[in-house]
Amino acid sequence: MATNDQLKALVKSHADGDDPQFYAVAMQVAAKAARAGQSKFAQELRDLVNELRERSGQKARVASIVPFAQPKGELGSLLNVSYPEARLNDLVLTGKLDDRLKHVLLEQRQRDALAKHGLTPARRLLLTGPPGTGKTSTARVIAGELGLPLFSIRLDTVLTKFMGETAAKLRLIFDALAETRGVYLFDEVDALGGDRAAQNDVGEIRRVLNSFLQFLEEDTSESVIIAATNHPRLLDNALFSPFRYGNGLHVA
Ligand SMILES: Nc1ncnc2c1ncn2[C@@H]1O[C@H](COP(=O)(O)OP(=O)(O)OP(=O)(O)O)[C@@H](O)[C@H]1O
Ligand SMILES: [Mg+2]
Repeated sequence: MATNDQLKALVKSHADGDDPQFYAVAMQVAAKAARAGQSKFAQELRDLVNELRERSGQKARVASIVPFAQPKGELGSLLNVSYPEARLNDLVLTGKLDDRLKHVLLEQRQRDALAKHGLTPARRLLLTGPPGTGKTSTARVIAGELGLPLFSIRLDTVLTKFMGETAAKLRLIFDALAETRGVYLFDEVDALGGDRAAQNDVGEIRRVLNSFLQFLEEDTSESVIIAATNHPRLLDNALFSPFRYGNGLHVA
């Protein structure tokens, strides 16, 4: 049975609205019951706590989503927002990729603990691979697992004929990224740095790429930035560097 102290702690945490503490004490009661040979009761209590924890976790997720408004004004034409429910189990991954992805998720989940040691989690990912190999799906899973909104950047509307305009649009996106923590997906990012584009107007596209790289380097937000491409060879080498170094990860 629960001790008097445990009962008091349960009542107090309930009054404080401190759910984690409430469940932790309930787990202690279950552990004590198990030690006293009441294994059936102990298991029932553990199951109950786990079920309630999961339910309150889902509520917390919904609550954290509500404050994120749809991107407004011009930003609305540059970003699509979604709240994926995708999970790691939805992906079929080789062992190496599975490990890397789990590592990224772990670091993101432990970012407060890392910060205490002056470290930052991996937050820039470059996904490369042929069409249909799961690049977009991976971005959805990362957002789903972390309970973050997924903002997909519409590069077709970001890129205009006018370099100044494109840079201003990129700035809007990077401002949003610093303001609202989320997973930001630059799909088909080769459009920004590819040789294909460079053939048209070398000087212009170089400047677009440079401003993108500069925004990337300057960004110290808590958002996760994912760039995806089918044409890794087309990418200017410079594009890879902020992903490789600066807490980056190249997932091929
Ligand atoms: N590794 C994988 N595990 C599970 N499903 C996958 C995987 N790769 C692809 N799929 C499935 O194939 C479909 C296409 O995948 P996805 O859109 O993620 O590919 P992509 O790499 O983004 O392709 P594209 O380069 O054409 O954008 C999705 O419906 C996804 O569910
Ligand atoms: Mg895709």
